[in-house]
Amino acid sequence: MQKQLDTLKNKTAQALLGGGADRIASQHKKGKLTARERVDLLVDEGSFEEIGMFVEHRSKDFGLEKEIYPGDGVITGYGTINGRAVYIFSQDFTVFGGSLSETHAEKIVKLMDLAMKNGIPLIGLNDSGGARIQEGVVSLGGYADIFYRNVMASGVIPQISAIMGPCAGGAVYSPAMTDFIMMVENSSYMFVTGPNVVKTVTHEDVTSEELGGAMTHASKSGVTHFAYANEVECINGIKRLLSYIPQNCEETAPLADYDSSDEWREKLNSVIPANPSQPYDMRDVIQELVDSESFYEVHKDFAENIVVGFARIAGRSIGIVANQPAVLAGVLDINSSTKGARFVRFCDCFNIPLLTLVDVPGFLPGTDQEWHGIITNGAKLLYAFSEATVSKLTVITRKAYGGAYDVMNSKHIGADMNYAWPNAEIAVMGAKGAAEIIFKREISSAADPAQKLDEMVNLYTENFANPYKAAARGFVDEVIEPAATRQKLIRAFKVCETKAVKLPRKKHGNIPL
Ligand code: HXC
Repeated sequence: MQKQLDTLKNKTAQALLGGGADRIASQHKKGKLTARERVDLLVDEGSFEEIGMFVEHRSKDFGLEKEIYPGDGVITGYGTINGRAVYIFSQDFTVFGGSLSETHAEKIVKLMDLAMKNGIPLIGLNDSGGARIQEGVVSLGGYADIFYRNVMASGVIPQISAIMGPCAGGAVYSPAMTDFIMMVENSSYMFVTGPNVVKTVTHEDVTSEELGGAMTHASKSGVTHFAYANEVECINGIKRLLSYIPQNCEETAPLADYDSSDEWREKLNSVIPANPSQPYDMRDVIQELVDSESFYEVHKDFAENIVVGFARIAGRSIGIVANQPAVLAGVLDINSSTKGARFVRFCDCFNIPLLTLVDVPGFLPGTDQEWHGIITNGAKLLYAFSEATVSKLTVITRKAYGGAYDVMNSKHIGADMNYAWPNAEIAVMGAKGAAEIIFKREISSAADPAQKLDEMVNLYTENFANPYKAAARGFVDEVIEPAATRQKLIRAFKVCETKAVKLPRKKHGNIPL
């Protein structure tokens, strides 16, 4: 037995070395952790159980039969994070640049099947040069096997992708189909083709960072939901994100402790500026409504005119979608609509109740928006809110104008409770625009058109720029003092706990993509 035990020990030691000491040193020199160090940081101490440590590739081309690394460039297994089970794969850049071979893919596929069977989240720590070039189509097939499972798992178990190195080609499409992507500034990249190919094809000179770095994807493309300063922060981000999310679509997120001593939030009575055209930061409202320090913003640097993120109210995990009057007056445009829609759909997949905060002047006009499809893209948010069957509460803090009133989780599309603050303005459009259209003749024929316009604006404001027309129809359930909002939401989310809504039988809907 001793001999066999020694063999196991030696083989394990070799596997733990990945691509060897030199390549590990080079990884560290780039400020990157190794695949194993990342797993160690992610899971509860001592909880990781590895699967497939001795898997080897089968390739015999280009002398690969002489280059065998046990595990074949990816560490797979399961462990716990804050006591909750997760499946994890972590690509090892020290072995063929973390590239995906047939067997590397088989290991990930096996893990995905286990995660699905057991209803447990899947976390991918990606650090890969894409398809293993020496293996050709076999590697491409491996990618497709993973992509297919990403799609099958979508909406069943949460899938989180951290990008922790240069991810090219196939290495970006699997993350793209998962629920959340996280990137690390200055050491992780995502692109379909790198700067060299870009130069050849489009003659653009661009660095890796500009083309596909963390801030590019966090702010310009919206491909990544989170960007972190370093790998440790990124790993902590995964842990925090998981704390808001259930294990699978059949469960609800864990409850947390909270301080119930102070539900009346006086500060909210003075958060809205006296002048309706003046901006304020919706995050100040969110802060007062949710449990202390519980707001975790998603897509923070992308389409900042809408704010989305997770929080807790009375210990219960919720998703927040809020217009942001501090950016572009909180107008809805293409990017903010798709950002909001994706977040709403995630929350609905995983039984996370939704809170919508409304202060929206309408949809953004202009050729740029029209030519890029604000109609189709704005419809995504409308579709997502309409099909969501989780508890849905809405608070109109100020403006709710035009189509955007309908879209932002209005009563008409299935919200459970709709509140408005007393200063709310709910109408087809702002008073000035409305007065100019409907009183055009009176204004132009008046002795003093400017004075007449003012008069008509005041008339329209008095009649429509308030919440009581909507409340009289029951479109708003209650007009409330802002300071009482947190208490109202706690009670409403509680009473909606047993909500049961079934969508009409169908294969699947056809969201306007
Ligand atoms: C095999 C690879 C590899 C790959 C890197 N390596 N990428 N081996 N297949 N795809 C190996 C290198 O040979 C090297 O081996 C080691 O990994 C580290 O690579 P370096 O180039 O030295 O590292 P670095 O300078 O940091 O550059 C990293 C990189 C670059 C940006 C990822 O290696 C690169 O551009 N790789 C190719 C990317 C690519 O085009 N992939 C195919 C995409 S097509 P040694 O032995 O020296 O340590 C694709 C199709 C799928 O993925 C499509 C599905 C939709």
